[in-house]
Order: sequence, then structure tokens, then C-alpha cells
Amino acid sequence: MSHTPIDQLQAIINRSWEQRSSGLPTETRSAVEEVLQLLTDGVLRSAAPTGDGKWVTHEWVKKAILLHFAQTSSRVMRAGELSFYDKVETRRDWEESGVRVVPPATVRHGAHVARGAILMPCYVNIGAFVGSGTMIDTWSTVGSCAQVGANCHISGGVGIGGVLEPLQASPVIIEDNCFIGARSEVAEGVFVGEGAVLAMGSYVSQSTKIYDAVNGGAITRGRIPPRAVVVPGALPSPDGTHSTYALIIKKYRDDRTDAKTALNDILR
Ligand SMILES: CC(C)(COP(=O)(O)OP(=O)(O)OC[C@H]1O[C@@H](n2cnc3c(N)ncnc32)[C@H](O)[C@@H]1OP(=O)(O)O)[C@@H](O)C(=O)NCCC(=O)NCCS
Repeated sequence: MSHTPIDQLQAIINRSWEQRSSGLPTETRSAVEEVLQLLTDGVLRSAAPTGDGKWVTHEWVKKAILLHFAQTSSRVMRAGELSFYDKVETRRDWEESGVRVVPPATVRHGAHVARGAILMPCYVNIGAFVGSGTMIDTWSTVGSCAQVGANCHISGGVGIGGVLEPLQASPVIIEDNCFIGARSEVAEGVFVGEGAVLAMGSYVSQSTKIYDAVNGGAITRGRIPPRAVVVPGALPSPDGTHSTYALIIKKYRDDRTDAKTALNDILR
């Protein structure tokens, strides 16, 4: 690979970024590849310390990474002679699926992942359903039979509980357009209504009290209303001796929530 001076790379990337909606110039591809190689080699960083205790962010490097997604098609990648020992096949039929599967995402046979979904390195268990346009982010698990709708973001490290063990009556259901914040857990067949947002670190089972601070303090369990924005909190015991973990509906989704939870199209 040729070595283009960094300032020239930066100029090409910034130029390409400006022109991206009208087609990328031919110089973009090799510049992006060079940037990725420099990042790989640790020569370039997307943010770096300036030496005086501060950090500088190189926005153009992030643009280069996004341009890589814009100009690169997914392709089959093999990992040699990996073998497993199991009773359910691991799915490998991704070639025509329209699903982007980032290694080492694992999906068991019997789980459906709709065209347009993106699987970061995650685990999708048998019987689960993942809707179109949904991203299952890194180290998330979609438990057996859990149902995740279209255009959801299941953020990093989220656990969506399964129903096979222990045996629960109904699976977790996450309707379309939901955002489940990082490291949250949704278990025991909890229902999350369309467009609802769970702030990071929200834990919910059938026992968790859900306090609606918007609508007069109603307390429910097992069901997050559509478009609710839910955050972790606590409710006092009747005798005031202690508090118990609860989820609090702080508001219903608005433009600010949408802006914070929007999916980045270029990564898709
Ligand atoms: C829920 C979230 C999207 C914020 O939504 P928002 O609509 O912008 O919420 P606002 O900032 O308007 O806050 C509304 C209220 O909820 C509270 N709140 C918001 N997020 C909270 C959180 N994570 N924990 C506790 N309280 C929170 C605010 O303090 C505010 O309370 P107030 O009305 O008493 O002042 C954001 O907190 C969040 O969790 N982002 C997800 C981050 C993440 O997981 N990223 C993915 C990484 S892979």
C-alpha cells in the first residue's frame, strides 16, 4: 500500500464526505483503506491525548470509518475448521439472507433474522425472531423464543430473556422501533410496547414495579407502554423502611429522545 501523507488523506476524506450523497470519487477507496491500515497499526487514532491532559478528536477519521461502510459490500468470511458440539445447528446460511452478521455472532437454527437486520457479535437463540432493520449490538443475547420487532436497537450487552429455561408462559416481546439501552435485562415474558425506550441499565421482570410518573403515579408490572421512556429508579416500601428497585416512566418519547436513540443509516 502506498503511503499518502496524513494531511492529504485528511483532505481526500473530508472532500469525499462532502460529496458522499452524489457518489464517491475514485480516490476515496484507497484513502479509506490507508486510514484503516493506519488505525490498525496504531499510527492514527480517532482521538488522541494532546499531552496537556486533554484529548483531541479527529472527526475526519470517523468520517473515513463511516465512508468504509458506505463504499463496502458485505461478503462471505470463513473461519477455517471451527467445530461445535451441540444438538441444534448453528446457522451459516447468511449469503442470501440480507442480514449482516459480524463475527462471531451466533444464531441457532430455528431463529429467524429478517432481511435488513444487523447482528453485531451477539447470540440469538432458537425460536427467537429479530425484525427487519433491527440491530442487535455487541454481546447482547436474544433468548429462546424472544420476539424483537423491526427497527429496534438492542444495545450492547443487553439480555433479552428466553422462555425455555425456566419455563415461562410467554416470551419477551419487544415491539417495533424500540430502543433498549446498554446492559439492560428484559425477562420473564415482559412486553415492551412500540417505540418504547429503556435507559441503559434497566432491569425488568414480571415482579418489577413500573411507576408512571407522567400519568398520576400508576404502578403496573410486566408491560412497558408504547413510547414510554423508562429509567432505573426506586420506590419506597409502605412503612418507609427501605426502597425497592423499580422502573420509572419519566416521560413519553419526544424529539430529544429520538435524536439520542436514532439509528445511524450509514452503518447499515
Ligand atoms: C433514555 C435516554 C435515551 C435519555 O432519553 P431522553 O429522552 O433524552 O431523556 P432526558 O434527558 O430528557 O431525561 C428525562 C428524565 O429522565 C432522566 N433520565 C434520563 N436518562 C436516565 C438514565 N439513564 N438514568 C436515570 N435517569 C435518567 C433524566 O434525569 C430526566 O429526569 P428529570 O425529568 O427528573 O430531570 C438515555 O438516558 C439513555 O439511556 N441512552 C442510552 C445509552 C445507550 O445505552 N447507548 C447504546 C450503547 S450500545
